Amino acid sequence: MSGNLPPLLLVGCGKMGGAMLAGWLELGLSDCVVVDPHAHLPEGAAGKVTCIASPEHIPAGFAPAAVLLATKPQEAPNTLPHYARFAGSAVFVSIMAGKTVAGLRQGLGGEAAVVRAMPNTPAAIRQGFTAAFAGPGVSDAQRKLADTMLAAIGEVAWVEDEALIDPVTAVSGGGPAYVFLLAEVLERAAISQGIPADLARRMARATVSGSGNLLAASSQDAADLRKAVTSPKGTTERALAVLMAEPAWPKLMEEAIAAATARSRELAS
Ligand SMILES: NC(=O)c1ccc[n+]([C@@H]2O[C@H](COP(=O)([O-])OP(=O)(O)OC[C@H]3O[C@@H](n4cnc5c(N)ncnc54)[C@H](OP(=O)(O)O)[C@@H]3O)[C@@H](O)[C@H]2O)c1
Repeated sequence: MSGNLPPLLLVGCGKMGGAMLAGWLELGLSDCVVVDPHAHLPEGAAGKVTCIASPEHIPAGFAPAAVLLATKPQEAPNTLPHYARFAGSAVFVSIMAGKTVAGLRQGLGGEAAVVRAMPNTPAAIRQGFTAAFAGPGVSDAQRKLADTMLAAIGEVAWVEDEALIDPVTAVSGGGPAYVFLLAEVLERAAISQGIPADLARRMARATVSGSGNLLAASSQDAADLRKAVTSPKGTTERALAVLMAEPAWPKLMEEAIAAATARSRELAS
């Protein structure tokens, strides 16, 4: 084995599968087959992976230690049976939103070792957050391999209750969208106060990313960092009085997360 990772099979190489592949390339791949009719291969993948359009072309004798399922959830019913033959030897790691371990095992023939994981898009710069759940029959070695594969795109946390993956999907899976929305609305609000559009864009982006970096670098609670910007009777206090007044931001965020959690549960059925 030339790399640090054992043979891997990637099914679906779009935004998320491609980000994972980029992380694995950095770790060192020994042998990797990618199945995707329109793979978006990351830089440096050419010559290091075998890319094929459909599972019939998987090289004879290829024996992956893990199969990463990264197609859209709607593709699962058609896709899973093609990979059932690896169920005796490989661990399946699914990042498909809403697809349960029980449903995946059913599609793969019943006894498959399945890890269900939920990453997020900062995976593209190795700053993702993934929560993972190991289903029945996943060995310690398989869990360790799944952990290594997922840690290639950022931080990993394991949960012991699969039901938590639905709220995780709502909070960290979709979370980047809420933060980007914040950048959008901050930019728009700046423009409405007369700030030129290009300056408004720069300010909004730098404020959101700088604050994120400060949070990452600090051991303080988010609330303490917020309070550090909020002088008594000052301008930020005035803005926060609007954002935090009932039923504004905190309540809206709770409702938004509850709606997304419910949608994740719906996708499983
Ligand atoms: N994006 C996120 O924020 C996020 C976060 C957490 C989890 N996820 C999960 O990650 C999965 C992938 O999402 P994504 O955003 O990476 O989607 P994506 O960019 O659309 O990637 C999916 C890829 O799979 C390919 N594909 C379709 N059918 C296939 C098949 N039968 N066999 C092999 N490849 C096939 C698609 O090709 P075509 O383009 O030709 O259809 C596409 O290249 C989803 O299940 C999603 O729930 C996404």
